[in-house]
Amino acid sequence: MEIEAAIREKVKDVETVIDSYMPKDAGLQKTVIDAMHYTMQAGGKRIRPLLMQEVYCLLGGSDKVVEPFMAAMEMIHTYSLIHDDLPALDNDDFRRGRKTAHIVYGEAMAILAGDSLLNYAYETAAKAFDMIHTSQQKTDEVQSLKRELATRKNVEYALQILAAKPGIYGMIGGQTADVELTGTRLTKEQLAYIYENKTGALIEASMMIGAVLAGADNGIIEKIRKTAYNVGMAFQIQDDILDETASFEELGKPIHSDEKNEKVTFVTLYGIKEAEKEVERLSEEAIAIIREMKGDSSFLIDIIGYLIHRKN
Ligand code: IPE
Ligand code: IPE
Ligand code: MG
Ligand code: MG
Ligand code: MG
Repeated sequence: MEIEAAIREKVKDVETVIDSYMPKDAGLQKTVIDAMHYTMQAGGKRIRPLLMQEVYCLLGGSDKVVEPFMAAMEMIHTYSLIHDDLPALDNDDFRRGRKTAHIVYGEAMAILAGDSLLNYAYETAAKAFDMIHTSQQKTDEVQSLKRELATRKNVEYALQILAAKPGIYGMIGGQTADVELTGTRLTKEQLAYIYENKTGALIEASMMIGAVLAGADNGIIEKIRKTAYNVGMAFQIQDDILDETASFEELGKPIHSDEKNEKVTFVTLYGIKEAEKEVERLSEEAIAIIREMKGDSSFLIDIIGYLIHRKN
């Protein structure tokens, strides 16, 4: 319970950051901006920006340069949800406790709101470049120039990850296989491909960007990626479990959506008990990697532990 309250507190700060980067102007494009706000402000666990921030802090990051990336990641995730719910995909009417964007604004506006969030995510993340000078502490000039150059390289690398992981070799790849293989008998390998991409890719991107912006070396970035891989797999298996076991009130989205769409999931293949065991196994393995790292990882470990038994 204490952990849940601590996470809730942190999430409030994360939401303040996200809000500060959302678009404010509204001209003839007002409807699409309203639809962007509608789904963003409906809530959500904000787990991706939270994980990004925690990895960044754990690895010694202390600047605001991570903030535009946190907001950008939540925008990309939210776009993926708006499109995932469309009639052509999962055809779901509720999300984050509200009617889905296409129910309220119509399909055309929901598609455009998703597109807008995706595009605006990159406009937002690119703002990190403007923060490089101001976020450096000036000691002597050579030192500060060196640090500025290093931060610039980190931001460039973070942008590459932000571009690649949601794309065809990441989230979109997973969604494609998820849609196209629906109704077929999935192999273990196909199921793993779908999970590590449709869900794992954005979680990997979030944690890797935290590490990259903190200036971590390649060895550490790879350890973080492996941790995130496990967290992502566990997260999707738990999502499948909740689709069967949680209530609509708890989830804020329709239950039995997978059954309705005849999706083969980890739960349909192995049953709830095995699925729960796998979530625990993957999460414990992730925690073991984090525990070995230098620095105070207790809060990050708490978050991963909390996700094992999450109810929404
Ligand atoms: C839902 O993600 C889609 C999956 C990848 C399983 P979340 O469970 O993080 O959704 P929100 O952001 O909390 O609404
Ligand atoms: C979510 O998979 C993957 C993405 C949105 C990219 P699901 O279709 O299982 O997610 P929910 O259950 O609708 O949130
Ligand atoms: Mg789906
Ligand atoms: Mg869905
Ligand atoms: Mg689901």
